[in-house]
Amino acid sequence: MNKILVTGGCGYIGSHTIVDLLENGYEVISVDNNSRSNPRILEGVEKITGKKIKNYKVDLCNFDDTFAIFTENPDIRGIVHFAAYKAVGESVEQPLMYFENNLLSLINLLKCVQEFDIPYFVFSSSCTVYGNPNEIPVTETTPPKPAESPYGYSKQMGEQIINEFSKAARAQCILLRYFNPVGAHPSALIGELPIGRPANLVPAITQTAIGKLPQMQVHGDDYPTRDGSCIRDYVHVSDIAHAHTLALTYMFSQKNQKKCEVFNLGTGQGVTVLEAIRAFEKVSGIKLNYVIGPRRPGDVVAIYANNDLAQKQLGWIPRFSLDDMMATAWRWEQKLKVDEKFYNTKYSELN
Ligand code: WQD
Repeated sequence: MNKILVTGGCGYIGSHTIVDLLENGYEVISVDNNSRSNPRILEGVEKITGKKIKNYKVDLCNFDDTFAIFTENPDIRGIVHFAAYKAVGESVEQPLMYFENNLLSLINLLKCVQEFDIPYFVFSSSCTVYGNPNEIPVTETTPPKPAESPYGYSKQMGEQIINEFSKAARAQCILLRYFNPVGAHPSALIGELPIGRPANLVPAITQTAIGKLPQMQVHGDDYPTRDGSCIRDYVHVSDIAHAHTLALTYMFSQKNQKKCEVFNLGTGQGVTVLEAIRAFEKVSGIKLNYVIGPRRPGDVVAIYANNDLAQKQLGWIPRFSLDDMMATAWRWEQKLKVDEKFYNTKYSELN
């Protein structure tokens, strides 16, 4: 079996991708320093797949420790790189922490790709690289605008670093630009574990619905959209995960046409914040307690994907509907309430 190193494997998209890779015949190891993730999520992966995953608790900003993983695993054939900080608001307050963590870890990994001649590299990028687009839906050739945050700049710079690296190295690279990943694995054995008060919409909805948050705010309903609230392209995390498996398989079968290729991972459907709330209320039967608040600085008015390229080249077809996204997110939140102790224990006690 082809062995894949998944960085950030204890994280939200990383853990879902490990499940999909295992279910599609890949062997997987994880590296995750658990600074922002819970190692117990891999127990959920094991319950779903029946396979135990080894996680190297290593900070990728430490080159020697990262190098040692490859020395110990000379049969690594591909890397899927998720590990990064991703809180937009935090990145505005602490830009240097974001640039150091997100870029130094990437450069250390790419040095290992070069040194160990790893053939395939998949990078977790984001629609945030488009900034506030003039035209929607956005295609992969839509020119990037200035990012809205240091987090967004770290993704734009990461893409440029990989693009230039791929011209000089043997490795084939793919950049996957996620739109808004939401929901949880249908089993409710893995899902998103936001640290502290969630900034993202769907965990804010589910935590309000379950009573963890007293109320949530809709950040503005005076935008030039059909109902005044912002438009996004929500996509189920399991669909995002499967795209990584397809991207690796695409490269393993030498179908890629360029050394570095980019794909949008969105459903192509724009959904407003209020429509997302309505969908949640419909599938949960719960009337959500929210108020309309002021706009959130840095918010893009509207963005959604043209995903033709991922469909055509990778054969990627998103399967989950908006209702599925909300239903699985809600099932996971209800499971978290039962397993409060298991998941909400302070991480330092878990390691
Ligand atoms: C979506 C919409 C909010 C919370 C960011 C990053 C992106 C990715 C996902 C990392 C916006 C509104 C939200 C709330 C609200 N991050 N909202 N009340 O900002 O589109 O994308 O997170 O991978 O790279 O840019 O996602 O879920 O924060 O916001 O009204 O309590 O929901 O204003 O319009 P966003 P989001």
